[in-house]
Amino acid sequence: MREIERLDEMRAACAEARAAGGRLAFVPTMGFLHEGHLRLARLARERAPRVALSIFVNPLQFGPGEDYERYPRDAARDRGLAASAGVDLLWMPSVAEMYPGPPRVTVAPGAAGDVFEGAVRPGHFGGVLTVVLKLFEVVRPDVAVFGRKDVQQAALVRRMVTDLGLGVAIVVAPTVREADGLALSSRNVYLDAAARGRAVLLSRALGAGVERFRRGERRGDALVAAARAVLAAEPGIAVDYVACIEPGDFTAAATATDACVLALAARVGATRLIDNVVLGEGLEGDVRASG
Ligand code: PAJ
Repeated sequence: MREIERLDEMRAACAEARAAGGRLAFVPTMGFLHEGHLRLARLARERAPRVALSIFVNPLQFGPGEDYERYPRDAARDRGLAASAGVDLLWMPSVAEMYPGPPRVTVAPGAAGDVFEGAVRPGHFGGVLTVVLKLFEVVRPDVAVFGRKDVQQAALVRRMVTDLGLGVAIVVAPTVREADGLALSSRNVYLDAAARGRAVLLSRALGAGVERFRRGERRGDALVAAARAVLAAEPGIAVDYVACIEPGDFTAAATATDACVLALAARVGATRLIDNVVLGEGLEGDVRASG
């Protein structure tokens, strides 16, 4: 595995990798890698002979008062994990080089970027798409792999690729979960023991919605209510939203289908977590981390 910081060096290394290997797959991350990220890297490896993975905590996608400064970072550990997952090019650009000044030209996500996560975190998806476009421009991957854990992000990246004609194939991989159902996240490290205990209710709430769906309920608001009821029982959890969503255009689904996504965001103590499930697949459609 080759480790790179500079943009021009990464651009050249990716051009070389494409020339040598034929295809290049890319996994953008913010680091503090866990099994969810590593699975994306392994999927990337199945799609292309060469894999690039970036680690960049992108200031542009954090709002004022969010956790940019304290976002967990551990380059030494990430290095070992990336190498073990078969990454060829590990790219850790500096903020100074990615943003030499405050960016004036940015990507506008459109209406689907203003709802759900976008409504609670104004400007977040503009920051995400801007950095993803910049990363794509340097790496020029044939294929890029994203996680369904961030389902709205994945949908917006797909749309950006289509609308801007970027010519990158987007693969979206199932969510990797702990044995008790909690979706893996770099932010789980913020949870103390009590909060970790409560956090399991997020996936249980999704499970309750899926259960109602399986018993024949198709009204989106009834599925949302079933999930909300699980969270409402725990005073240590503050819900930002629970929604039954059409995956194509990210509008609320009045009538749920197999393809619809039940998504939620909640604050467990001071830690904000998100999770979602595809109704037709259920939590079984996701992956359990080994151990
Ligand atoms: P980050 O949160 O580090 O996530 C990087 C990728 O890993 C994303 O595609 C995310 O959906 C995926 N991922 C995270 N947890 C996962 C899990 N439990 N199972 C499966 N995949 C998971 O998402 C970002 O970084 C940033 O917004 C980024 C796209 C890098 C732009 O800055």
